[in-house]
Amino acid sequence: MQKVIVLDFGGQYNQLIARRVRECNVYCEVKPYSTPLTELDADPPIGIIFTGGPNSVYDPASPQVDPAIFELGVPILGICYGCQLLAHHLGGKVTAGTGDTAREYGKTETYFNTDCKLFKGLPREGITWMSHGDYMEKVPAGFSLVAHSDACPTVAICDEARSFYGVQFHPEVNHTQHGSDMIRNFLYEVCGAAGDWTMGDYRDTAIGQIREKVGDGKVLLALSGGVDSSVAAALIAEAVGNQLTCVFVDHGLMRLNEGDEVEAAFKKWDVNFVRANVEDLFLDKLAGVTEPERKRKIIGEEFIRVFEAEAKKIGKVDYLAQGTIYPDVIESGLGTSATIKSHHNVGGLPDFVDFKEIIEPLRMLFKDEVRSLGRELGLPEYLVMRQPFPGPGLAIRVIGEITKEKLDTLRLADFIFRDEVAKAHLESSMNQYFAVLTNMRSVGVMGDGRTYDYTLALRSVTTTDFMTADWTRIPYDVLDRVSTRIVNEVPHINRIVYDITSKPPATIEWE
Ligand code: XMP
Repeated sequence: MQKVIVLDFGGQYNQLIARRVRECNVYCEVKPYSTPLTELDADPPIGIIFTGGPNSVYDPASPQVDPAIFELGVPILGICYGCQLLAHHLGGKVTAGTGDTAREYGKTETYFNTDCKLFKGLPREGITWMSHGDYMEKVPAGFSLVAHSDACPTVAICDEARSFYGVQFHPEVNHTQHGSDMIRNFLYEVCGAAGDWTMGDYRDTAIGQIREKVGDGKVLLALSGGVDSSVAAALIAEAVGNQLTCVFVDHGLMRLNEGDEVEAAFKKWDVNFVRANVEDLFLDKLAGVTEPERKRKIIGEEFIRVFEAEAKKIGKVDYLAQGTIYPDVIESGLGTSATIKSHHNVGGLPDFVDFKEIIEPLRMLFKDEVRSLGRELGLPEYLVMRQPFPGPGLAIRVIGEITKEKLDTLRLADFIFRDEVAKAHLESSMNQYFAVLTNMRSVGVMGDGRTYDYTLALRSVTTTDFMTADWTRIPYDVLDRVSTRIVNEVPHINRIVYDITSKPPATIEWE
């Protein structure tokens, strides 16, 4: 199988580069810069990409490559630090940029020589995303200059005879116009990629790796019903069948039919599926509790307790599996790149469970790749396309005290909202949308009678990172249909409001 190796020099976007390569239907792996050449050469890649990184190549402590890598006969694309590394090793000179001349950050107008294979068929001018303090003062012998900006004369270099290419900017980020096309050109025009790799191949490789690692051991996984844990469970189920036990804690705070849907999705695999139906326990613990953080804490603690009790019934397990995906790794600062923020969705590792090792088979995938892997594994669309759902579930969408009746009311209203959104085909413009049962009652009139019932709020946000968000401009006629249906079909709701605050200052959830 053809593959491309991304050599990691500590940049922020390393997995994004790998993902861009995979989008071009070429298998790709990220490896540390220190990977021995013998390992690379044992199964030679069709191309190597050097990533960016925070260091300066002329600093003696900076990460370097074995110069023999340039003798392998494998095409190389250096990005940012990786470009400077090429220049540094092959006889050029890299120095610190001074003033405005050659230090560039952000969107930069760039001019390309489209005779170079990297830029073949692309516009001669466009925006690139730069982030470099050093620059190539002298280009190595044998290399041509193939791009420049107003401030920097040496934005891209190539030695087409040896298939070495270097770019100062980041083609992998969306801000670079035609960046993905440049990576595609490297793969197809330079490396001779066949482009026959698919997510199905990823699935097969991952299954093989899981089988090899797990052997005849036992695996335990906490299934939340979210996309990530479901796909991880399906993958491991496909690999080791009933050596896997999935514990699904159904705390009764899920959306309409969700618990049954999760259970049904796993019927096709011969796994040990444990559904702990603990709604009563959770409702007991939450009775009379109104404070949001207290709700979260109770739910978190009870969840762990139930999971622990179920895990103890299984006895010793060898592996604890988790559906950690790449953005979780980055947000928690667990990768090699610098920490960006601490992770919001920390599940909390159950340290009481006795296990040898953690397996995280989705660790290198982005959310949409996880979804497409889920489809490959035959998971139903309602699971694969599920929107983010908070661990504490509907408990933080019933404002104030929680009762079973309020939860049922909310569940039905929320279902109608989602149903109308689906009928209007608006899902792709709404990243998270749900109903909130407020604690407020007001007067209404239904038939000829006076009502005094709850106000329901609709919330929908458009966002990429969930750290900032805008409220979605849902067409009035859709809001109208949702409102009419909910008031008619759901008892105890006589007023609907739409939340038109962005985040910040509001948060996405109401509690
Ligand atoms: P906020 O309300 O902070 O939400 O703007 C941002 C994203 O995080 C989700 N969220 C949670 N997820 N446990 C979770 O697993 C929580 O306690 C929690 N609180 C908020 C929220 O649904 C949104 O996607």
